[in-house]
Amino acid sequence: MKLAGEKVLIRDLSFKDLDDYYEYSKDPNVGPNAGWKPVPDLETASRLLSGHIISKEVFAICLREDNRLIGTISIYHQGLRKYKYVRQLGFSLSSKYWGMGIMTEAVKLVIDYIFKHTDCEVIEVGHHSDNFGSKRVIEKCGFNYDGRLCMFKKLYDGRVIDADFYSMTREDYERIKRYE
Ligand SMILES: CC(C)(COP(=O)(O)OP(=O)(O)OC[C@H]1O[C@@H](n2cnc3c(N)ncnc32)[C@H](O)[C@@H]1OP(=O)(O)O)[C@@H](O)C(=O)NCCC(=O)NCCS
Repeated sequence: MKLAGEKVLIRDLSFKDLDDYYEYSKDPNVGPNAGWKPVPDLETASRLLSGHIISKEVFAICLREDNRLIGTISIYHQGLRKYKYVRQLGFSLSSKYWGMGIMTEAVKLVIDYIFKHTDCEVIEVGHHSDNFGSKRVIEKCGFNYDGRLCMFKKLYDGRVIDADFYSMTREDYERIKRYE
């Protein structure tokens, strides 16, 4: 997959991304907000990157100017819904690049890709209830609020978090595109 926006490129991961992937995934401000432990060493980063490459569900977010990985966006084929035509999104960005509109652009590109090129009928996405940055990205992309699951999961550090969930159907997407 290769998607290009004004500022960002979204593309398949490769082993050449290892150093940049490690740099981003060890960032202590990133993983914990998305529910994962910062990656402790290059060896673990390499193992995780291999898994992502094989899964074909995780993609690199890069700046157009240098094509280097600064974050990831995931399109999972299973979500909370017991429904075949669902995709669930996940995303994270190196904290050096926060607040520049990068993730909003990346998520919009991926929404377009999913509804134009797959059989998906509904995209779902969620965030920890105290993750206001993620909430804002999701709202800006036009998702509808479905609700809160209290005590959604226990994280690696023992915190039990509530999570908020949102969705966008193909019909919602077509309506958004008509008024853009
Ligand atoms: C959450 C995250 C993806 C936001 O990415 P980003 O590229 O900085 O977001 P954008 O620049 O596109 O910002 C979109 C909106 O969110 C707002 N925003 C971003 N971070 C925010 C924060 N921490 N608190 C409140 N609002 C925030 C921006 O101000 C902007 O809103 P505006 O246009 O009304 O001003 C990024 O901070 C991140 O990767 N965090 C760590 C991992 C994570 O939380 N992943 C999401 C898991 S669900």
